[in-house]
Amino acid sequence: MSSSSNNKKLLAWVDEIATLCQPDNIVWCDGSDEEWDAMWDIMVKGGTARKLNEDKRPNSYHVNSIPADVARVEDRTYICSAKEEDAGPTNNWFDPAEMREKINGMFSGCMKGRTMYVIPFSMGPVGSDIAQIGIELSDSPYVVTNMHIMTRVGQNVLDVLGEDGEFVPCVHSVGVPLAEGETSEPWPCNPDNRYIVHYPETREIWSFGSGYGGNALLGKKCFALRIAGTMARDEGWMAEHMLILKLTNPEGEVKFVAGAFPSACGKTNLAMLTPTIPGWKVETIGDDICWMKFGEDGRLYAINPEAGFFGVAPGTSMQSNANAMLSLESNAVFTNVAETDDGDVWWEGMTEEAPAHLIDWKGNDWTPDSDEPSSHPNARFTARANQCPVIADEWEDPKGVPISAILMGGRRASVVPLVTEALDWNHGTFLGTIIASEMTAAAFGKLGELRRDPMAMLPFCGYNMADYWGHWLKMGQTEGAKMPKIYYVNWFRKNEAGKFMWPGFGENSRVLKWVFERCNGTADAIETAIGNMPTLDAIDFDGLDMAKEDIANLMRVDTDGWLSELAGIEEYYATFGDRLPEELTHQVNALRERLEDSKQAVA
Ligand code: GTP
Ligand code: SPV
Ligand code: MN
Repeated sequence: MSSSSNNKKLLAWVDEIATLCQPDNIVWCDGSDEEWDAMWDIMVKGGTARKLNEDKRPNSYHVNSIPADVARVEDRTYICSAKEEDAGPTNNWFDPAEMREKINGMFSGCMKGRTMYVIPFSMGPVGSDIAQIGIELSDSPYVVTNMHIMTRVGQNVLDVLGEDGEFVPCVHSVGVPLAEGETSEPWPCNPDNRYIVHYPETREIWSFGSGYGGNALLGKKCFALRIAGTMARDEGWMAEHMLILKLTNPEGEVKFVAGAFPSACGKTNLAMLTPTIPGWKVETIGDDICWMKFGEDGRLYAINPEAGFFGVAPGTSMQSNANAMLSLESNAVFTNVAETDDGDVWWEGMTEEAPAHLIDWKGNDWTPDSDEPSSHPNARFTARANQCPVIADEWEDPKGVPISAILMGGRRASVVPLVTEALDWNHGTFLGTIIASEMTAAAFGKLGELRRDPMAMLPFCGYNMADYWGHWLKMGQTEGAKMPKIYYVNWFRKNEAGKFMWPGFGENSRVLKWVFERCNGTADAIETAIGNMPTLDAIDFDGLDMAKEDIANLMRVDTDGWLSELAGIEEYYATFGDRLPEELTHQVNALRERLEDSKQAVA
């Protein structure tokens, strides 16, 4: 196992970082099976990982982090642009020169006693025009194995890079050097000193102190969203927190749909959904990130830059998401789940009945009477996309797939109806900017608290959010552009008893069907103050065991609720000062007028 490169910039940079971090060894990763085995061997011996029962889940491993390092740390995530205004009010900004000093101090000697892995990876099919190359230097074998699944790692990436190619440098350390003779903790991390740092202008990533998910697998949120987002702005394309799915109707006609939902709000589930309506088919292109560029026909073509799924485990079952379950039957990694007595994994919701005994994610005995869940709510599986039974044939097509519709939405207990169609691209952009969602366990923070999460990008927008909105608007004005239709959806509206009104999951296919037919101009809608909504019989509710009253409630335009949202939206917009695109002020005013008109019409 080893790879090599003659890229001068890369060789010099690896030298420079090694001098700074002082690892005992440097290993150039090649993405091979031997390397995978060798990494797990280290982690099993070191107490980090356990191999799962080979008969139950071949070639799969279970790892537990420590309770202090279980999710992304948004308050420790920095955008270090030269000017503070370029990071904007939604990001933590830090002066780049000062941050460089801090980083130099932190990383100095931080890999002592450890090995530095050089991980060459491609986001997108290797060699594709839309793909980008990154090199992650990390002292974590756990990161190496996860990068094997989540990205394309290997010598072929270095071959494409060649002597003069460009790459995004990503440095990661768990931040715990080892003194001579000292052995590593099973989950080394430095939770009091976590820094997830981005330099958008020089396109660099530095991550210190965490070993978990988006904090450490730097191809994902750091590169494919925060850094790629700034590239996209500069180059006229889009890098979005979206799933991509392929939808086929009973006649065999195909459309591709993207969907932006905040973390732990249903992207993986929608991307792999098993439709409940006969004759319809959903296949997966991607479940988290979507890069879109204009094709010659003026349509947006999307690729999934990732090669695997880093999905929320709890709640995933053969009932809720069979295709995810089937994707992780082998060659998978499980983090912060419970272990069964026969050496397999379990999490809340996997089966209706919990096993009588488990070892929970903290390593303690667990029974169904235990007070705490057996798995952390942000426990994750890492599974290869090509093992998904419904992965679409086009998923690695280097030219991407043409997007017909974009769904957006969050977790909203009230006000936001099941589905609303934007009047046009600008109105859809406006709806994206006003998404608010209840916080989930995917990031440290107050669970359930409603916060604004525009386009599901609040934690992932690498520059001023208002400029990002301006970029969306500008994309729509591109000459010859044929933009997708935009839909604002909410699977999470609750009734007075506090229960979800909409069954969600496979039943979301009913909404997808309406979207598909709207794109073809064959489904009915009525124009309301907030956008076009399905007429009561335009959505196929056939065979759905739902009270008429709940259906009506799901589709109700809560005029007063919307009117009372407007002040909050304006207050939010005001935080962006004169960076706010004028068009958005225009959109809020137009919405207010339409709401007031409709109120008068009723009165
Ligand atoms: P990230 O990987 O964090 O970006 O999350 P994601 O957007 O892919 O979310 P995911 O599909 O993993 O879903 C997260 C949680 O939402 C799980 O607990 C699901 O069970 C739940 N969920 C997903 N879809 C639905 C739905 O349609 N209705 C309801 N009520 N819950 C859902
Ligand atoms: C998210 O939080 O949106 C995720 C998980 O997809 S992580 O990779 O940790 O960002
Ligand atoms: Mn995500």
